[in-house]
Amino acid sequence: MTTADFDDALLSLGLARVSEQAALACRPLVGRGDEKAADQAAVNAMREELGKLDIAGTVVIGEGERDEAPMLYIGEEVGTGNGPAVDIALDPLEGTTITAKAMPNALTVISMAPRGTMLHAPDVYMDKLAVGPGYPEDVVSLDMSPAERVEALAKAKGCQPSEITVCVLERPRHQDIIAALRGIGAAIYLIGDGDVAGVMHCSDPDTTGIDMYMGAGGAPEGVLAAGALKCLGGQIWGRLLFRNDDEKGRADKAGIADLNRIYARDDMVRDEVIFAATGVTSGSILSGLKPRGGFIETETLLLRSKTGECRRMSCRHKLT
Ligand code: FBP
Repeated sequence: MTTADFDDALLSLGLARVSEQAALACRPLVGRGDEKAADQAAVNAMREELGKLDIAGTVVIGEGERDEAPMLYIGEEVGTGNGPAVDIALDPLEGTTITAKAMPNALTVISMAPRGTMLHAPDVYMDKLAVGPGYPEDVVSLDMSPAERVEALAKAKGCQPSEITVCVLERPRHQDIIAALRGIGAAIYLIGDGDVAGVMHCSDPDTTGIDMYMGAGGAPEGVLAAGALKCLGGQIWGRLLFRNDDEKGRADKAGIADLNRIYARDDMVRDEVIFAATGVTSGSILSGLKPRGGFIETETLLLRSKTGECRRMSCRHKLT
């Protein structure tokens, strides 16, 4: 398979449908307090819709290892098998808790790239750092302290550190980062969950007000976010974090030898990629599911790295 065989324009609409169907399936579960049911509904719908695509897909970022996730597990083959060989990275419901609580920014997310070009990130945490477009390469780094990152970005942006806003997942493990950012006077945009959307905010600081993302979250979500930034513009770096030998074993299984490596955006997504996300609950990136008469309206962001196209699609779906 070469990039030339990866007809991203043709494949992208199918990807949007997959993302839409997963979101629609979550509708009865928004605000119902049942994260697992919401996730399962999204998984079922995403898998069914993926099965209709003419691709020979392999899930490289999925619901988990085969022994813990019966559907959309890492390594599962998806699609009709008649079509290009592709890697699939997905998160059928990014923000299960957000959905259960009907809070903002729950998304369904899926991306596709030529076979063998996406990082097989194990299900461990990743230390992440992201900035938007227009900055010099490696303007900030994971090896800098949080304060140094703010200073470097402020210098590149031509502003004061106090004019920089950083998005951070609100977790006890981020107490030190938050204190350091407050210490240098940066503003912090705290999110309860959903760091794919958190990272994506950086791609459009004029609209979102967010300049940088930092902190530890899921490694699979890191690869998905890298795909989105590759299309939207922006840089992201990630370093896997291991809490025990079991997690190191997962990396070994995924073929990762250097456990301390810093992955830049294009190390995580090495070739052209297409990306689709549909809003489940409304947020700063996408509108959520909206009932309209006998229809439900979805909003989907459909991105292509090859052209930089960013298509915002609304679609009405008949209530069945
Ligand atoms: P779920 O959709 O699985 O609930 O994940 C949401 C999320 O906030 C991710 O966006 C993030 O990467 C991860 O959880 C952070 O993990 P933790 O909740 O363990 O801090």
